[in-house]
Amino acid sequence: MTTAGMLDSITFRDGFPAMACRQGNSANPVESLASLTAEQRAITRELLDTTGSVLFRGFEVRTVDDFERVAKGLLGELAPYRGGDSPRQAEKGFVYNAAGPSPSRLLRAHNELSYAPWHPTTLCFGCGRPADEGGATTIIDGHRVYLALPEEIREAFRTKGVTYIQHLPNESGDPSGIKSWPETFETGARDEVMTLCEANYTSAEWTETGLLTTNRTPGTLPVGSDGREAWFNQAHIWRKDESVTPDVTNMDLWRTRFGYGAIFGDGTEIPASYADVVSRTLIDCTVPVNWETGDVLLVDNRAVMHGRLPFSGLREVFVAFA
Ligand SMILES: [Fe+2]
Repeated sequence: MTTAGMLDSITFRDGFPAMACRQGNSANPVESLASLTAEQRAITRELLDTTGSVLFRGFEVRTVDDFERVAKGLLGELAPYRGGDSPRQAEKGFVYNAAGPSPSRLLRAHNELSYAPWHPTTLCFGCGRPADEGGATTIIDGHRVYLALPEEIREAFRTKGVTYIQHLPNESGDPSGIKSWPETFETGARDEVMTLCEANYTSAEWTETGLLTTNRTPGTLPVGSDGREAWFNQAHIWRKDESVTPDVTNMDLWRTRFGYGAIFGDGTEIPASYADVVSRTLIDCTVPVNWETGDVLLVDNRAVMHGRLPFSGLREVFVAFA
């Protein structure tokens, strides 16, 4: 029997990530993934709920057009990367590149936009072309991180939350490497940006040189239908280096220099020793997803953190948010 014109079936397997492999050789592998059956959709939702990530393999999603079609099929309406601090170019519509800065450096684990008032619930990655060397996307189970941390540390983050401070320059191309506020909010309209910030951030003010915001968020979150507690912050990244970050509790200092900082939500400092333990624990819990051309990866952004290993050569990995 010819399968031309028909859609492929899928075998699902539990794991981290859970696997969803194409079975069959239809002429429409991309369509098979973009138009899952009700049953396939239910299994995918269930695996995403329990494991936090599902890797689809064999569907030959290679181009940005194919990826956009599949991402919309899996996620529904796509969302912009508004408010994000990473230099990120839209490839098409709301499909972005997932390269991140500095290919030669490790991109540390994070939940997307966990520092912002808005964060995507689900991420969809797609691999048009794996890097010549390295470049795996890494995933980290936030519940595993939560359990692995000493109780003193996880309780401090769970009960106090985290406040993120950012001072963004007016102009792009600042030597600090910090994105300007027009780049961050994808508009140069001051009124629009302030209205958005006042409605969503804990505080927002114009300075002589830019925009200073603070945002208090949870440090951990209950995730999945079982409500397991998961690590959900990027204080270990925003802490930066003490030699270049001003005293984060002194807001006067922040008005005069650009940068990012994180403190506990109650205004106290996050001990450096805590951040060190968190960073080590995240490394211990890291699982690499070694890309094959055409792969698509769904990630529950609250339950699972992601990062990227260093790479060399061309690497084409797309990402979309919902
Ligand atoms: Fe990211």
